[in-house]
Amino acid sequence: MPEKINVLLSEQVIKKRVAGLADEILSGSRPELLHVVFVLKGSFVFCADLVRELSRKGQAVNIDYIIAKSYLGTESTGTVKCKIDIDMAGKDILLVEDIVDTGNTMLKLRKKIAEMKPERLRLVTLLDKPERREVDIEPDYVGFEVEDRFLVGYGLDFDERYRELPYIGVISPQ
Ligand code: IMP
Ligand code: MG
Repeated sequence: MPEKINVLLSEQVIKKRVAGLADEILSGSRPELLHVVFVLKGSFVFCADLVRELSRKGQAVNIDYIIAKSYLGTESTGTVKCKIDIDMAGKDILLVEDIVDTGNTMLKLRKKIAEMKPERLRLVTLLDKPERREVDIEPDYVGFEVEDRFLVGYGLDFDERYRELPYIGVISPQ
């Protein structure tokens, strides 16, 4: 059955908020070099826009990625698979997620990264579904709090589709 996507957050709204997030991240003490680590696949679009906002505001960055997977279709499988082979020791790390849902992915990644003794570790997510939380984790920066609905676009997928949409939308069957 074909699906219809209803726009929840437009390209313009997202752009403005990403610039606001960059300001929040850069308020207070700025590192000489910020190590941005994004979580594949979902956060590649957000990260690409965020690092360019950070750069416009004068922050130098390194960019690396982690692959994490927990979803099949629209259901969280509960187990988070990931492998990290980045040297994080002594670095100022910004972990970039597309969405925090149950929180399992971010909790697991935060634990693993913390064990690698970075100098500082901050978490930013574009979207947060606080109603769905199963574990105790609060990102340091949140773009938008959203209701418990399955979202696609701007990097988010439904079975690998719709990541390329420039906006964030809700799927409804037609
Ligand atoms: P968590 O471990 O349950 O917090 O799930 C986090 C991951 O699930 C995110 O990084 C997304 O890849 C995926 N996810 C959660 N909610 C959605 C959604 O509404 N649309 C697409 N992917 C989602
Ligand atoms: Mg993800």
